[in-house]
Amino acid sequence: MSITYAVANQKGGCGKTSLTLNLGASLARMGYKVCLCDVDPQANMTMAMGCPQPDELPVTLPHVIRAIIDNGGRTENSELLQKREYILRAQDMDFVPSSIELTGTENILVNTISRENILKKFVAHIKDDYDFVLMDCMPSLNFVTVNALNAADRVLIPMQPQFFSAKGLELLLSTIANVRENLNPNLVIEGALITMFDGRLNFHREVLNIVKNAYGDHFRIFETKIPVSVRVTETQAMGRSIFEHDPKGKIAEAYSAFAREAIANG
Ligand SMILES: Nc1ncnc2c1ncn2[C@@H]1O[C@H](COP(=O)(O)OP(=O)(O)OP(=O)(O)O)[C@@H](O)[C@H]1O
Ligand SMILES: [Mg+2]
Repeated sequence: MSITYAVANQKGGCGKTSLTLNLGASLARMGYKVCLCDVDPQANMTMAMGCPQPDELPVTLPHVIRAIIDNGGRTENSELLQKREYILRAQDMDFVPSSIELTGTENILVNTISRENILKKFVAHIKDDYDFVLMDCMPSLNFVTVNALNAADRVLIPMQPQFFSAKGLELLLSTIANVRENLNPNLVIEGALITMFDGRLNFHREVLNIVKNAYGDHFRIFETKIPVSVRVTETQAMGRSIFEHDPKGKIAEAYSAFAREAIANG
């Protein structure tokens, strides 16, 4: 059975794209069939998968969304969907690229019937080919992100151990609760992953304790933490996975451990 994850947090730069890429690469190394889906007009994931100019790609996620809308909300009998040009491949994974045009998708969705369901239809169209579909969301809780949450079975929340913004997290949790109540009753929060963690810093350990005390009863906080390391930035810039760039390093080890922990319960 295929599982679809949305990697979401409206806070910018907390490690969503890194999580998506490295969890995907870990799962691919474990032998699973993985498709990454870039749901961010910044297209950082697309670039990290080896497309330095996403805006020059002929078919990206906004084109797919547009095609489904123009086809009356259906995926069947759409020429664009049948051609599958929107599925690219790198680092032993398939991926659906994004481009800046996804910024305009928000406005198109607003005027669309069943506007929260378009991405869900797309995911339903591709998911049977994969064990895991991982969606990298943008740092905003707009309609496009709600589409991703609606299309997902599970949410993964990356969190940096920074000055803790309870308000920001509350907003994310209430959006997820809203989606669950109104659109996708089976949506579960798989857990929160602490990223860019430096265990030597008292401050980071304090933030971790605050998060555990405040939210440990609401959702799982993964035992694995991703250490801070310049290697992550290097790999994204080079379009290589951490397993190609620094296979024996602490980041590769941490993401492998995280992948095992995330899927341990099936
Ligand atoms: N473990 C880490 N150690 C050091 N730097 C990291 C780590 N993880 C991510 N980074 C860096 O932090 C920056 C933000 O990470 P990333 O792009 O994954 O966040 P994001 O949540 O996807 O950002 P956005 O909200 O803009 O989409 C990037 O430059 C990335 O290379
Ligand atoms: Mg990102």
